[in-house]
Amino acid sequence: MGSPENDAATSGTIDSTDTIDSTGTIDSTGTIDGGDGEEQPPAYGYLDIDPETARRASRIYWDDAAADYQAEHGAFLGDSDFCWSPEGLRESELRLLGDVAGRTVLEVGCGGAQCARWLRRQGARVVGFDLSGGQLAQARAYAARTGIEVALVQADAVALPFADESVDVACSAFGAVPFVADSGAVMREVARVLRPGGRWVFSTTHPFVWCLPDDPDENGLRVFHSYFDRRAYTEHDEQGQAIYTETHRTIGDRVREIVAAGLILHDIIEPEWPAGQERTWGQWGPVRGGYVPSTSIFVTSRPPAR
Ligand SMILES: C[S@@+](CC[C@H](N)C(=O)[O-])C[C@H]1O[C@@H](n2cnc3c(N)ncnc32)[C@H](O)[C@@H]1O
Repeated sequence: MGSPENDAATSGTIDSTDTIDSTGTIDSTGTIDGGDGEEQPPAYGYLDIDPETARRASRIYWDDAAADYQAEHGAFLGDSDFCWSPEGLRESELRLLGDVAGRTVLEVGCGGAQCARWLRRQGARVVGFDLSGGQLAQARAYAARTGIEVALVQADAVALPFADESVDVACSAFGAVPFVADSGAVMREVARVLRPGGRWVFSTTHPFVWCLPDDPDENGLRVFHSYFDRRAYTEHDEQGQAIYTETHRTIGDRVREIVAAGLILHDIIEPEWPAGQERTWGQWGPVRGGYVPSTSIFVTSRPPAR
C-alpha cells in the first residue's frame, strides 16, 4: 500500500526507455539532466540505495504522510480491523495467522495499528511497531477513540528491539517490507524473535507490478520497466535528499530471503481482484486487478523445536 505514483502526471512519466517527459532524462545513476546541460538533483528515479538512506527517506515520507494516509484510507481499513491489502482481504475471512487468542503477536510496520487492535479484540497480546512517529501518533489517536490499547514501539524492522524467541506470531500488512533496502534483514530479524513453530505472514506489493506503471486502469497494463531491476524507486527533494523510496524483490528473491532466514515457506497468495470491490487505491483497482495480481501474501513459519 505504497503511495506516490511512479507514473504520476504531476511528476512526469517514466516510459519504457526510462525517460522522464517534461523533466529530462534519468541516467544510470538516477541523475536528471534537465535538458539545459546542467545536472539537477533527481526528482525521481531508480537507484541503488543503502539501508540508512532508505530508513531516513521512509521516516521523512511516513511522518509527513501519516495524517493524509489515515484520512484517505482509514475508513476502508476500519478502526480496528485486519485488512491485508487494497483488495480488501480481511484476516477475519482468511485466518492466515491461526487462533491468536492468548498469543503474543508482533505487527511489523503497524501504521495506525488497525490490525493490532483487531488482534487485541481476538484476545492476543499485541505489540505494534513502526519506524514513523507520525504513524504512531495516529495509532495513539485511534486508541483514544476506540478505547482499544495496544503496546506501540518506534523501531526499524531491520533491527528489532525484541528478545530472541519472544513472539508467537508476527504479521505485516504492507508494513516495512516494501520500503527497506534489505528485506532479507527483516526476514532474519523476524525469524530471530519468533518462537520455534511461530508464524510470520506478510503482505507486500506483488513483484510483477514493478514492471507496470502505477495506474489501476488500462494504462497500467503495459510493461514499462524491467522486472529484474532491483534498484529502488526513489523520490528526491530539491537538495537531492531521498524523501520516498520503494524497493523491489523478484518472487525468487523473496523465496531465497525467507529460506535463508531459516523459515519455512508455506504459501504465496496472489489474490484475484474480488467481484464487487470497486474502490481503487493507487495502482490497485478492478480494471488492472482483473488481469494481474498487485498483492502477494507470504505465509511462513519458523521450524518447530526438535
Ligand atoms: C503502507 S503503510 C502500512 C501500514 C499499515 N499496516 C496499514 O495497513 O495501513 C507502511 C508502513 O510501514 C512503515 N515502515 C516503513 N519502513 C519501515 C521500517 N524500516 N521499519 C518499520 N516500519 C516501517 C511506515 O512508517 C508505514 O507506517
